[in-house]
Amino acid sequence: MSFFNPAKFVEETVDTLKNQLSDKAIIAASGGVDSTVAAVLAAKAVGDNLLAIYVDTGYMRLNESKFVSSMLKELGVKHKVVDASDRFYKGLKGVIDPEQKRKIIGELFIRVFEEESKEYGGKFLVQGTIAPDWIESGGGIRDTIKSHHNVGGLPDDMEMELCEPIRELYKDEVRSLAEYLNVSVSQRQPFPGPGLAVRVMGEATPERTEIVRQACHIAEEEMELAAKEGVMELPWQYFAVILPVKTVGVQGDVRAYGNTIAVRAVHSYDAMTAQAAELPYSVLKRISERITRELKNDVNRVVYDITDKPPGTIEWE
Ligand code: XMP
Repeated sequence: MSFFNPAKFVEETVDTLKNQLSDKAIIAASGGVDSTVAAVLAAKAVGDNLLAIYVDTGYMRLNESKFVSSMLKELGVKHKVVDASDRFYKGLKGVIDPEQKRKIIGELFIRVFEEESKEYGGKFLVQGTIAPDWIESGGGIRDTIKSHHNVGGLPDDMEMELCEPIRELYKDEVRSLAEYLNVSVSQRQPFPGPGLAVRVMGEATPERTEIVRQACHIAEEEMELAAKEGVMELPWQYFAVILPVKTVGVQGDVRAYGNTIAVRAVHSYDAMTAQAAELPYSVLKRISERITRELKNDVNRVVYDITDKPPGTIEWE
């Protein structure tokens, strides 16, 4: 059990930020609980001297830009939506290696922020980095498990000064902080910084990304519905990935040769370890039926990942 005290943390952090942020700042707002909490803390410290930038990388969840924009508006955080999807798709063209994907996305993020910061006139970049992000990115006594985009992707010549107000916190602590701050996404499942790019195994083309975006949406909708109906407990994280293998199937009475989607759902406490969720078979079946029906031109097979972390990680890349 954690003895984390949100009220004390807010008071101390807002004080620190007031001193630290001596000039205008921008924050990378992804819509997740981490960056939203960081945005609210920074806004408490410097008010309108903070501009939250939400970058649509093209690798975001379905309808995410609209959702994030209205949430930030409600929280009173000044923000801007930047559609950089073409730039990200171009940057990842032909890239297959997961570490390379993460580094390219991290660097593109920083470049976009630098440009936005210049336009806005700010000197600081606030980020919602939390402890597992930098622990797993290696350095010192730690091995590099995977470079989290907001750590491994930082270029050496970055022009902005970095400020990470929640970098010592674990996820459960960030969630209690979010509840304390009335942030509506406090219980929202995590979403990786590199987004759907690490849920497309192999090249993350716009077309394959669109397939996994829809598959993730279906998996999310069905599990949330089942949890609401009391059929299952909502997992800690749940999504879909698209595999780089095609398999043979049959559509009507015609041979098909299509993509494979893997569904992943895990229970976890702090993302450092995780257990594959034992989903009711009826829920799995419904997800499979919907994915193969709604994406019938692209997907003809759905599998369920039963790997714990370790030995797997939560994401597939
Ligand atoms: P893994 O896959 O390492 O993921 O078991 C642990 C948790 O972190 C999320 N994740 C990321 N979050 N930037 C983030 O902010 C990243 O680059 C990143 N990669 C993974 C993942 O979704 C899981 O919740």
